[in-house]
Amino acid sequence: MSSPVSVFTPEESRAIKQSWKALTADGLLPVGLLLFERFFADVPQVRHMFSGTGIHGDENSPKENFSMETLRENDKFTKHAEGVAAKLSCLVDNLDNTPAVMNICSELGQAHKMYNVKPEYFDRLGGVLLDVLQAAMDVGLDHPTIQAWKKAYEVIAGATKPYL
Ligand code: HEM
Repeated sequence: MSSPVSVFTPEESRAIKQSWKALTADGLLPVGLLLFERFFADVPQVRHMFSGTGIHGDENSPKENFSMETLRENDKFTKHAEGVAAKLSCLVDNLDNTPAVMNICSELGQAHKMYNVKPEYFDRLGGVLLDVLQAAMDVGLDHPTIQAWKKAYEVIAGATKPYL
């Protein structure tokens, strides 16, 4: 039974929890890597934030210089990828407890302010997450589970971005 403070319907909550369980069936790291490899390919200007990668790109650095192999072997990148998936798991677990989601997101926002993460990057990551889910489930954007995730990510990003 949903908590009275949940902003999600029982159907949305169930769809999000079930699809996340299926996506992470082989562990958190593969999902984190999938998300961040896509994200780094789509948004190359953030590579420099992970300065330990040896890829100090900025908005002017050409995409050809980007090596996914280097990235995969880098602890900083893999730890963050896994950390993101772990934090998303925590948010999914707490989905029906809106105050808990708000707390997790405010901490997330405050931590990322230190790294100069711009609000638009959180939005871009949301787009990548929806793409990854659609591909894994072989469904389109209008599928109820994807729409539930769209809403969930809007709640998460909406509660995180004011702290950035
Ligand atoms: C839902 C989205 C995200 C989640 C859940 C997430 C989660 C995390 C976690 C758990 C940490 C480590 C602990 C901490 O400092 O709090 C972290 C660190 C970090 N995150 Fe994120 N993150 C997200 C999005 C992003 C984005 C979009 C960027 C860059 C554009 C980013 C850049 C960083 C950087 C640079 C660090 C520091 C890494 C280090 O120095 O080892 N994160 N993130």
